[in-house]
Amino acid sequence: MYSEKVMDHFMNPRNVGEIEDASGVGTVGNAKCGDIMKIYLKIENDVITDAKFKTFGCGAAVATSSMATELVKGKSINEAAKLTNVAVMEALDGLPPVKVHCSCLAEESLHAALWDYAQKNNIEIEGVSEPVETDHHEEIEE
Ligand code: FES
Repeated sequence: MYSEKVMDHFMNPRNVGEIEDASGVGTVGNAKCGDIMKIYLKIENDVITDAKFKTFGCGAAVATSSMATELVKGKSINEAAKLTNVAVMEALDGLPPVKVHCSCLAEESLHAALWDYAQKNNIEIEGVSEPVETDHHEEIEE
C-alpha cells in the first residue's frame, strides 16, 4: 500500500525534534483524526538552515513531515513557500488516495512556520498567509 520511500521515512523519520531558538514555528491539527504536526524552522538571511518536526499522527503524516523538512533545508523562504503537498508526495513516490489529505498537513504546517517567521520579522512572503483551520478529512468521510 505504501511506497518504499514512505515506509523508510515512517520507520526512520529525518529531522525529528524541536529547535529551541527557532525562527518560526507552525502547528496545524486536524480536529477529526486528532493528528497534529509541528514544524520548527531555523532561518538565517532568509535561508532555512535547519528544520525539525514533531508529528503525532498516522504513518503518512510522519513520512510527509520528514520529507517536507528534508526538502526545505537549504532553501530560501520564498522557495520553501512554493513547496506543495503534491511535491512532497512525489518525492515520496506517491501516497494512497485516502492518505493524500495527510500530506496537506505538511504543507500547512510549513506555511504556518513561515507565517510565524514573517510576523516576527515584519515581512511578507509570497504565497504565505495566516493559517486557517481546515478539515481535510471531509472527502474521505462522506
Ligand atoms: S489520518 Fe490524520 S493526518 Fe493522516
